[in-house]
Parts: sequence; C-alpha cells; structure tokens
Amino acid sequence: MRTHRVTLAVILALLTGTGAQVRAQIPATEYAARRSALLERLGPGAYYFEAAPPAAADYLPWEQDPDFLYLTGHLTPSARLVMVRAGTGTRQVVFIRGGSATTSVWEGEDRPGPVGDTLELRPADEYETFVKELAAEVPKRLVTPHNPAQGGGAGRLLEQLGGLGSVEVVNPRQALTGLRALKSPAEIELLVMAGRITAAAQREAFRATEPGLNEFEIQALIEYTFRRNGALRPGFASIVGSGPNSTILHYQQNDRFMRPGEVVVMDIGALYEHYTADVTRTIPVSGIFTPEQRAIYEIVLAAHDAAETVARTPGASFREVSAAASRVLAEGCARLGLIENPDAVLPGSRRTQLSLFYMHGLGHGIGLVVHDSMPPTLEVGTCFTIEPGLYIRPDALERIGEGPEADRLRARLAPVVARYADIGIRIEDCYAVTADRLVCLSEGAPRTVAEIEAMMAQPSFTTVSRDRGLVESFRKYAPPPR
Ligand code: GLY
Ligand code: MN
Ligand code: MN
Repeated sequence: MRTHRVTLAVILALLTGTGAQVRAQIPATEYAARRSALLERLGPGAYYFEAAPPAAADYLPWEQDPDFLYLTGHLTPSARLVMVRAGTGTRQVVFIRGGSATTSVWEGEDRPGPVGDTLELRPADEYETFVKELAAEVPKRLVTPHNPAQGGGAGRLLEQLGGLGSVEVVNPRQALTGLRALKSPAEIELLVMAGRITAAAQREAFRATEPGLNEFEIQALIEYTFRRNGALRPGFASIVGSGPNSTILHYQQNDRFMRPGEVVVMDIGALYEHYTADVTRTIPVSGIFTPEQRAIYEIVLAAHDAAETVARTPGASFREVSAAASRVLAEGCARLGLIENPDAVLPGSRRTQLSLFYMHGLGHGIGLVVHDSMPPTLEVGTCFTIEPGLYIRPDALERIGEGPEADRLRARLAPVVARYADIGIRIEDCYAVTADRLVCLSEGAPRTVAEIEAMMAQPSFTTVSRDRGLVESFRKYAPPPR
C-alpha cells in the first residue's frame, strides 16, 4: 500500500474543491494489506484484538478503538478480530454481535467494515467454538494489546495455547505505531478533507469574533461548521482560549467572555471519516492586532515559515524542522528582551530561557488520533503538524529558579513580561508529504496579519439571529473575570 504514489493532482483538487472524486473510505484491499503487514512484521502466532466496548452509559457517543478501526474498518462495539498465522497459512476472522430486533430499534443497524477473501465475518457466539478448535500447530505465541491475565477473549486464547508461562505474549503496539506512521493515498485524501473543513471553520470564527462574545459561541460555530460539512465531530476537545486563557496550552473550558484588546487562540480539528486535522489560529478579539500582539505574532509566524521551509527540503528530519523554528523563536524573544540572548539558559540549569515561553514540541503526526505516530524523517506519506508558539504567562518569572542569579534575571525580565503578559500565540498547520512536494492541508485558513485582519472585517452570518440576552445570562455562572 506504500508503493502507491499519492496523486498531487487529486489532493490539490480536493483542497480547492474542484471536482475531484473522493474515495470517502479506505478500500477493503487496504485493510487487508494493513493486516498482512502486521502479520508479516510480527510473525507466526495467534492475534487477538477487541473493538471498543459499548458506550459506558446510554446516549454517550461511542468511538471505535483506533487500532481496531485501522485493522478492520469495523464500526461495531464489542467485536473481536482473531488472526492465526501458522506455517504458510493465515486465517482472519471478525466476530461481531448478532443484530437483534431490539438493537435495530434502539441503535439502528451495525456498520460492519469490509469483508473479503482474507477476512471472515462470524457471529460473536461462535467465538468459543472457534477457540476450542484452534489448530494444534499454532505456535505458542499470542499477539495482543490486551492483558490475557485478565481473562476475557484474550485470556481464552491464552488458555487454549497452553497458558501463562508456556506462551510468549507479544504486544503489537510498536509494530502498529510503525505501520500507522505513514499514510496511504486514501488516508491522505481523508486528511485533506479534514484540513479543508477545519480551515473553513477557522474562517467562520474569524468573521464572527468580536469583543463581548463568549468563547463557547466561537466553539459552537466551529463545531457547527465541522458537522454541516460532513465531519463526524471534533477530533479532539476544541480549544478556544482568550486573554489569559490563550497561554494555557490545553485549555478546554471555553466559557469566558472575550474582551477588547485580547487575543484568542483557536486550536481545532475536524474528524473526517475518523481522520483528524489539527489547526490553530490566533486572532485579535477586536479585529486589529495591538503592537505588542503583533510583535509576538510576527515572531511565531517567522518561526512557522522557517520550519516549513526546512520541511520542504527532501529528506529533512523533523528534528531539523524543529530546530529551525526554535532558532527563530529564540532570536525574536531576545530582540524583544524576553530572554537575554538566543542561546541563554536559566541560572544553574541547562534549560533554555526560551523554554519559559515555548513549552511544547514543534509538532506531531496526525491520523486516526490527533497525536498519531510519524517517522523521524519526512518520508512520502508522513502527515504531521508544525505548531510553534509563544505564551507570555506572568508566572514565567516564578519558573526562573532561586538564588541571586535568578533574582537578577527575574528583575531584568519582569518589565518585558509585564508588557506582553497574557499574550499567547500559536500557529499550527497540518501537512502531507507527497512524492511531488509538501502539501499544506490547512492552507485555506488565513495566516498573515494582513489576511487575518481583512477576514475579520468581513460580516458573519451568525449576527443575524443571535439571542444576546440568553448568552448574557451565562455571566451569572461564568468564572470571575481576570
Ligand atoms: N490540539 C492538540 C495539539 O495541537 O497538539
Ligand atoms: Mn497539534
Ligand atoms: Mn492543535
């Protein structure tokens, strides 16, 4: 499946919506190829995987286990995948619960994934018999992410193969991480759609944002835009953080009324056919960046551009991409006086002064989960994010350390930190490496200061039917303003 060239023409047509055919799903042959790649990597033995159990309580959304989905495409709870590889033969069976009249009424029909020549579909109640009949020549190896000592389906297989002590139990985590690190053309097409819908949501949020709105109004608009364009839901908890909340990396409350003169960070991702994008934009609540916000924004944008340039170099490693961004961030912070010089470290420590304001890595793989695996170098099929940020938190000064050297540094940085306090800026885009070039999957979300300010000046359809009185009533419950 890795040998297919990702067709750039298809990706670009999908990104711009110019009439390309979306496959809309992963083909059956690809699921079969994934399973056989796993069997190839891990060798003979019995393999056992379980779908996610039904939702813990009625009416909660149910989500499939990502590894189970990767291997089968089956969207049924409590299903089991058993694969047996012995000698030259393999057998692959998915056991699914039988649909009953009752489940049809309450839950609708199950949606099993593709079955074909390599995968048999059997009712769940045949599992016990199947295990009992497992051929004696199956090697004493059990590959499973589940703990067979806890019983269940994996425990039954373990017992049948000879029990703990005589059976080698292998965790497939590392092999699956390796397989999932590179995306097929079909997966990239789904990520293209996820990126495009997420960019559309960012644009709607730009148009709607103004002082006095609550963060949740922007979150609602973003998630509405996801679903109305065919996304399943957000791929992770949406982050809409204004003012001081812009400096909280994984802020999720999204319930603060936004004020003039603040920035708001929107870190969001549409989940499209189970593949998630991850795109962050930071905009000024009033529509125009203040000089301080702009100064920080331009540094983060330059770091983003520097990282992207390195990522476009064939054979680049993500470490090199990350180093390019860190350098630009450090030089920018030194220029503003937030750190003493680009290489400065904290007193008595090897930690950089930059780490006071840039506390996370540059990015990660994306895919079935928002932090999916990726290879160390940007090979064809790598899908990943670039997301530099600077977060000027007043408590940065407390993280400088103790002692006279630390006090001196604290006194020196304090006025600069006060000047830029509560400005958090993150700019995040997602990318796919194709055989032809690096493609930005979120290019539809404006990124420069001029583009952002121009789009924020556009009207929003949401102003037509807002019930401000209803939203304002939330002030009673809102946390006290900072
Ligand atoms: N949205 C989570 C992240 O950016 O990694
Ligand atoms: Mn990210
Ligand atoms: Mn993100």
